[in-house]
Amino acid sequence: MPPTNPDPMQLFLDTANLSDIKKYAALGIVDGITTNPTLIAKEGASLEKRIKEIAEVVDGPISAEVTATNLKEMINEGRKIAKWHPNVYVKVPSTSEGLQAVKIFKSENIRTNTTLVFSASQALLAAKVGADFVSPFIGRLDDISEPGMDLIADIVKIFKNYNFATKVLVASIRHPRHIVEAALIGADIATMPAEVMEKLIHHPLTDLGLEKFLKDWRAQAKKLRA
Ligand code: E4P
Repeated sequence: MPPTNPDPMQLFLDTANLSDIKKYAALGIVDGITTNPTLIAKEGASLEKRIKEIAEVVDGPISAEVTATNLKEMINEGRKIAKWHPNVYVKVPSTSEGLQAVKIFKSENIRTNTTLVFSASQALLAAKVGADFVSPFIGRLDDISEPGMDLIADIVKIFKNYNFATKVLVASIRHPRHIVEAALIGADIATMPAEVMEKLIHHPLTDLGLEKFLKDWRAQAKKLRA
């Protein structure tokens, strides 16, 4: 059966922490970065400075979020953010002002990520106005007993039905199973905290298996030397 998504799934880190970004980028598994005002505040960094520092480490999309809520200020802020680096995607909340802003940014070739998406209708509207990414927050839906992954399946289907170019960026990921399920559905991108990326790598049977291989190997080497 041919793959339903012709492009490989991309993995982003959802953090503004430079040492985590450097650590996982060095493994060659980080395709991009998402940040939000909370993550930037946690680092005590200036948004502009940190986005530029991240761009020196990761050669891929980097989302930086506007904090203005009215259209005029959102546009001014987004235009400034977009000038920081060619890989920057302006992150815009899924509000009526946000939709208008995305449409304007599209006409100015400024790339966008519509964030705080919690319904398929919000994702559909973001795609209609030309968002490059939509970010459905699945963990926050799971937190209130709503099945976050069902939203991903709906959005992926809707975008496929109409051939929307907008990519589905699965956000608010809590554990590796979220990523596996998003990949099975065919979502384009998953963004995750560093702790979840770390968990993606490991399996206890890998550690046990390696320990046994090396023990047997050393015992055999000892016999050969005797
Ligand atoms: C996405 O871009 C957001 O930064 C993020 O995934 C939010 O995740 P949280 O629900 O863990 O804060």
